[in-house]
Amino acid sequence: MRMYELIEKKREGHVLTEEEIQFFIKGYTRGEIPDYQASALLMAIYFQGMTTEESAYLTMAIVNSGETIDLSMIDGIKVDKHSSGGVGDSVTLILAPLVASCGVKVAKMSGRGLGHTGGTLDKLESFTGFHVEIDNQTFVNLVKEYHLAVIGQSDNLVPADKLLYSLRDVTATVNAIPLIASSIMSKKIASGADAIVLDIKTGAGAFMKSEQDAITLAETMVAIGEQVGRKTTAIISSMDEPLGFAIGNALEVKEAVQTLKGEGPQDLTELVLELASQMLVLAERTDSSIEARKLLENNLYNGAAIQSLKNFIEHQGGSSAEIDDLNLLPQARFTYDITAQESGVIKQITADEIGRAAMLLGAGRATKDDTIDLGVGLVLHQKVGDHVQTGDIICTVHSNEKNPASVLDIVQKNIIIGKHATPSKLIRKMIQHTD
Ligand code: URA
Repeated sequence: MRMYELIEKKREGHVLTEEEIQFFIKGYTRGEIPDYQASALLMAIYFQGMTTEESAYLTMAIVNSGETIDLSMIDGIKVDKHSSGGVGDSVTLILAPLVASCGVKVAKMSGRGLGHTGGTLDKLESFTGFHVEIDNQTFVNLVKEYHLAVIGQSDNLVPADKLLYSLRDVTATVNAIPLIASSIMSKKIASGADAIVLDIKTGAGAFMKSEQDAITLAETMVAIGEQVGRKTTAIISSMDEPLGFAIGNALEVKEAVQTLKGEGPQDLTELVLELASQMLVLAERTDSSIEARKLLENNLYNGAAIQSLKNFIEHQGGSSAEIDDLNLLPQARFTYDITAQESGVIKQITADEIGRAAMLLGAGRATKDDTIDLGVGLVLHQKVGDHVQTGDIICTVHSNEKNPASVLDIVQKNIIIGKHATPSKLIRKMIQHTD
């Protein structure tokens, strides 16, 4: 087999075989296929696309390029959740303990990542002493006994994905749906998921700006899941405005705790309940999402969900004192209120720009070596569609820098007040596996 022939075949729009895709992934991971040939194939895929079968072969070839996590010692169906990333997205912090409180085992491998704020691991480190540096056996034991544990992503997982992503990043081939879908699905499968719930965001603050692209990505991922024997359900959700009110690590933790006590923002609570219902159905904990939702709502309001978070934090060395007294969480030194310059209705809160403001405060990483400031971020006071009067506080900026003028300016310009507003629908569509 020659790489030249594979490039030519895909360039002409033909379908690659499983053996050809494995040849490419193995050869590239071992350093036997040069970057220039891998780049040419990626560009051919970008223009010609891939069938579901090809995307599934690519996914499994990436999974098999490195270590895979075996969760078979934990009984039951292990369901994982993935979000394509947004602003103020603290869903995992709420969803994982909530689902665990319903008796479903959640074995979560999480990353830190780049973005407006840190990843789930960074946010969890807002709890004093909490750590994810546990060995695989401790991780499995914690899930078996207490239904929930989180471990840092192993460096040996999906090496082919790391190499390909770096190459895609410099060859303008990141935005190819089969490549994105196989990249995400490979990480979930290598982490041991039997079933997967996807939250694919669309809108200003999302990776997929257009709803149609988000739907196509979700359909591709659900189809890959089917093909490789992992039941997969995807929800397409809006990321035009940030989710909830808080953007920033400890600020999102605080909001997550309030949500687990049944006192969270309406949009965040709704999305968590939708995703969690699908997790309970895929885990075969309930027969229907209606039944799942009842169970989840009960646990959110009867104290079981917040107790589940406390147990989880303590079992991984953290202090749950912060849950009882949210003022103990990391805090920024200064706060600045942004006020409405006119009366009207909040027309737009531009998610990507608000995310950029949080990142400039130090809440996120621009490069993987950056350190995160857990205390900084923004707290919105209204959502799109809410009425305001001149002088009302619309956002509080939490900063460790005195007078962060450029950030204050970004926030003021990106909370737009008008006469009318059309809030976008939170849950746009669901794409479900078929039995
Ligand atoms: N996220 C991933 O993990 N992979 C992609 O290709 C794009 C987004």
